[in-house]
Amino acid sequence: MTVYGLGDSTLQALGGEAAVIELVERFYAAMERLPGLPEAHTIRAWHPDDLTQSKDKLATFLIGWMGGPSRYRERFGPIAIPRAHHHLPIGPAERDAWLACMATALDEMAVEPQLRRYLLEKLRHPAELCRSH
Ligand code: HEM
Repeated sequence: MTVYGLGDSTLQALGGEAAVIELVERFYAAMERLPGLPEAHTIRAWHPDDLTQSKDKLATFLIGWMGGPSRYRERFGPIAIPRAHHHLPIGPAERDAWLACMATALDEMAVEPQLRRYLLEKLRHPAELCRSH
């Protein structure tokens, strides 16, 4: 049984940096088209039209967050995830929509159930801290 969260074991279990980049691509694709999830459209509308930098930043952050090289700080400066979102009116529905996009991306990549559960549970904490109401 794989133990996640030790060194870069989470990143390796997912498939390395290329897999995180694919995850972020699928995450934003899901945000643009998830049926029955109007909050996903709300979140998408808070982003710039061109998602190139948003994707790059999220993938860079998640690679470090999964125990890989922490290049976010080098490239973009220090970040505190809750503070980076405080200008956004994120409530429970938007938090859940963000996590649903992530769940969809993980499903599309056929990530093994144990890792999928681990990632979604672990992402729930920072997502909860991003709420402003
Ligand atoms: C709770 C639901 C979340 C929503 C609705 C949300 C939404 C957004 C939006 C709209 C932006 C672009 C902000 C802008 O251009 O002004 C953004 C940036 C970002 N988000 Fe989130 N986010 C959420 C959770 C998270 C979580 C849990 C993480 C990390 C685990 C994360 C990581 C990032 C990063 C790294 C950026 C780029 C930050 C920056 O450039 O300042 N987000 N988010």
